Amino acid sequence: MLKNESIGYFDAPVPENMNLVEEINKLRKEKNAVILAHYYQTGDIQDIADFVGDSLALAQWAEKTTADILIMCGVHFMGETAKILCPNKKVLVPDLNAGCSLADSCPAVDFEKFVKDHPGYTVISYVNTSAAVKAVTDIVVTSTNAKQIVESLPEDEKIIFGPDRNLGNYINSITGRNMLLWDGACHVHEEFSLEKILDLKKQYPEAEVIAHPECKKVVLTVSDFVGSTAALLKHTIQSDKKQFIVATESGVIHEMRKKSPDKEFIPAPPNDSTCACNECNFMRLNTMKKLYNCLKYEMPEIFVDETVQMKALVPIKRMLEISKKLGL
Ligand code: 13P
Ligand code: SF4
Repeated sequence: MLKNESIGYFDAPVPENMNLVEEINKLRKEKNAVILAHYYQTGDIQDIADFVGDSLALAQWAEKTTADILIMCGVHFMGETAKILCPNKKVLVPDLNAGCSLADSCPAVDFEKFVKDHPGYTVISYVNTSAAVKAVTDIVVTSTNAKQIVESLPEDEKIIFGPDRNLGNYINSITGRNMLLWDGACHVHEEFSLEKILDLKKQYPEAEVIAHPECKKVVLTVSDFVGSTAALLKHTIQSDKKQFIVATESGVIHEMRKKSPDKEFIPAPPNDSTCACNECNFMRLNTMKKLYNCLKYEMPEIFVDETVQMKALVPIKRMLEISKKLGL
């Protein structure tokens, strides 16, 4: 069991002069471990990961890995999704405190009641939810496949969509559906300042504004491109533009710069801060030192109740199957 359960990660001392990259490489080989990282992780973690991706790609990668140990450098729901897909593997997250304000905005008991109060509705949940919420869901989606999955359902299907109201509103607007929305949001994406983005547009008139659909409608309205982290990255690679104002967690800019070193990426600033960019405090809890300790001591581990795991697996598998058919 996790020794430092109260603090959520294994805080063993690491010698100052230790080469963490070398040690992590040695250990992952010895233990047949795979390191997966989300685009919102710090650059050093993204660089050492076996695979970096958005939340759909991380789930797809987890489903197919043959490793014995899977380290999810991301937030708790990403580790849980991997554990649901691979219940017999050891799934670790460097810091268990890495939660998600969006997942927290949808407590399972309340969501279950909401679902019960609306019989006859198909329940679509964003992947940013707890395993218990997924267990009362019909199909899980991510921002990469939400539009296509909603469109794959009959036009007159009554749909509950939770928990992100911004993503839900955005999907309603581009599909013409009228899904019933849960009133949740992400504290990072809700915070982007329209005024500051418009100021940046004046400063960089040639720049494109690109935004994650978790941002508020006012930000999406002034954006030239809206998409998941993977879609934003792909867009910056394919676009002829040379400058981008990026309205999502600034960690993704690391990969954008690597893929397009000749282009300029300007992080969109939040409302209430003197800081120029917007970081997810949960994502940033993972560090190289915690990753090393996690690999070495094989903790903290993600556990999911067996009944919840079996129920939650069904809508996640449905998402993966539909995504495969759609070539996503
Ligand atoms: P993606 O699915 O685009 O990676 O988004 C995950 C997330 O947490 C956005 O805040
Ligand atoms: Fe959750 Fe928002 Fe952080 Fe994404 S950026 S993990 S939605 S709190």
